Amino acid sequence: MPRANSPSLPRHVAIIMDGNGRWATHRGLPRSAGHKAGIDALRRAVRAAPEQGIEYLSMYSFSTENWQRPKTEVAFLLNLLRRFIKQDLAELHAAGVRIVVIGARSDLEPSLVALLCHAESLTKENIKLTLVIAFNYGAKQELARAAKALAQEAVAGRINPDDITVDRVEQALNTAGMPDVDLLIRTGGEQRISNFLLWQCAYAEFLFMPLFWPDFDGAALQRAIAEFQSRDRRFGGLRAVTA
Ligand code: IPE
Ligand code: IPE
Ligand code: MG
Repeated sequence: MPRANSPSLPRHVAIIMDGNGRWATHRGLPRSAGHKAGIDALRRAVRAAPEQGIEYLSMYSFSTENWQRPKTEVAFLLNLLRRFIKQDLAELHAAGVRIVVIGARSDLEPSLVALLCHAESLTKENIKLTLVIAFNYGAKQELARAAKALAQEAVAGRINPDDITVDRVEQALNTAGMPDVDLLIRTGGEQRISNFLLWQCAYAEFLFMPLFWPDFDGAALQRAIAEFQSRDRRFGGLRAVTA
């Protein structure tokens, strides 16, 4: 098993779980069947991640832009999150998974918000894996919220605008305290970021995989990590010198 602190392994992997609808359509099934199958793929990824030395796994489940979909599909996706948390929380907790939900909660039903808060507080001491669920998440909105919070602190005289540094902005994001994304995977074949973790992906390696999300499994994650390990991350410097 790889060591979690090996420098060549990604500590933080973020996944844009795309292609559920097309997976279903190709099988003559309704899109909802693709979303259901997507939950099984999510379970596989969560199980495989710690085995691959991943410490943080961020999953894009519902974007701020996904409200534009038909009402029935939106309702299905909201319900799927609720069912996933209800069904899997005990098992995730037993497996040592810490759950963190990022995104705006203001447009969600109070009972769903309460469930998300419960999942977070129950699992907050767990250290095997941090599972970040991005739900009603948009990176631009997250950055705007951070800017607003910092402006309010400044107006109240609690911080000096000169002290608004990169670190200070990071503390104001939903991902405060987490390392930046090392590897961003998008399934489904599209090559775009769709408003996911813009700040946190500043130096991420991007990997676009042609398979649809419901077909993702531990082997696909292993391939993604092997690809990551073949990349030369320079961070603006020069090629890493092998000692
Ligand atoms: C990703 O699959 C899941 C969500 C965006 C909620 P899609 O539903 O976008 O599937 P495609 O891209 O239409 O195939
Ligand atoms: C991105 O997928 C959002 C999620 C996977 C939750 P979309 O299917 O919504 O993205 P676009 O519309 O193709 O950019
Ligand atoms: Mg899509």
